[in-house]
Amino acid sequence: FAPARLHLNDVKFFAHHLRTRRHNSHKGSYGSVAVIGGARGMSGAPILAARTAIHSGAGRVYALFVEDALPADPGQPELMCRAAHDFDLGQATLVIGPGLGTSSAAHALLSQTIAADSALLADADALNLLAGDAALQDALARRQAPTVLTPHPLEAARLLGTSISAVQADRLSAARALAARLHAVVVLKGSGTVIAAPDGDAVINTTGNPALATAGTGDVLAGLCGALLAQDWPRWEAALAAVWLHGMAADVLVTEGSGPIGLTAGELIPAIRTALNRM
Ligand code: APR
Ligand code: MG
Repeated sequence: FAPARLHLNDVKFFAHHLRTRRHNSHKGSYGSVAVIGGARGMSGAPILAARTAIHSGAGRVYALFVEDALPADPGQPELMCRAAHDFDLGQATLVIGPGLGTSSAAHALLSQTIAADSALLADADALNLLAGDAALQDALARRQAPTVLTPHPLEAARLLGTSISAVQADRLSAARALAARLHAVVVLKGSGTVIAAPDGDAVINTTGNPALATAGTGDVLAGLCGALLAQDWPRWEAALAAVWLHGMAADVLVTEGSGPIGLTAGELIPAIRTALNRM
């Protein structure tokens, strides 16, 4: 069946999931996000995701580094930067993958993360590790807590054991196949991002533009979706709204002259905050 196209009116329909910011609320009212990644030389990716999460309304955000490779200055003092191995994974919504690398330490963390009873978003190297491990895929498919996967076409191809060109030739089927196999909401990224659910529901996003074709924009999407999950959005609505808002932020920035040439992933973050507040 033909997929729906995701438009502004659909997203407005989700606005009720945004928490009313009550007078007597506190940071504990808005959930915690822990971004797990940042192998040596790749600390920028989890920091971008974590910065996005704190600008998207999460009450507390941790940036957790595999192999204890903490950066000297994360450039965002609001973040709690820790070594991943001494963090209790049950206390936050987990975003794993940005800059994670594929070391054995990364694999062990992914395994613990999948076993945790927390909402989970897996991206980037978490998906590459998953592609090579059938037992981990089984464990992921059996999770009870909400799970969202955000592959780009190469990551999707690895998970499906096929080529990028096969994925791109039928993006809808690829996203649906992964969602059904892994019992997760799957966001197949790229121009015309497809969001698919295990039951076959699928939607094509209408926002976004080639200004997003730059390093780190996927990390920003992961942080945004993680923040919505932490604020108790259901996984389907969180994925749809995150993809739509991420693309809309890029569209607004291009209208203002900050792209398509030279837009940076970090510049999306305040534009996403504005879009969320206008919602
Ligand atoms: N039109 C619309 N959206 C686009 C376009 C386009 N032409 N090009 C890219 N995007 C969007 C995608 O839909 C996605 O949301 O930009 C984002 C890019 O995400 P990624 O492909 O994950 O890119 P990146 O953040 O740089 O990934 C960083 O992680 O996934 C690994 O291999 C990847 O090492 C790289 C790292
Ligand atoms: Mg990526």
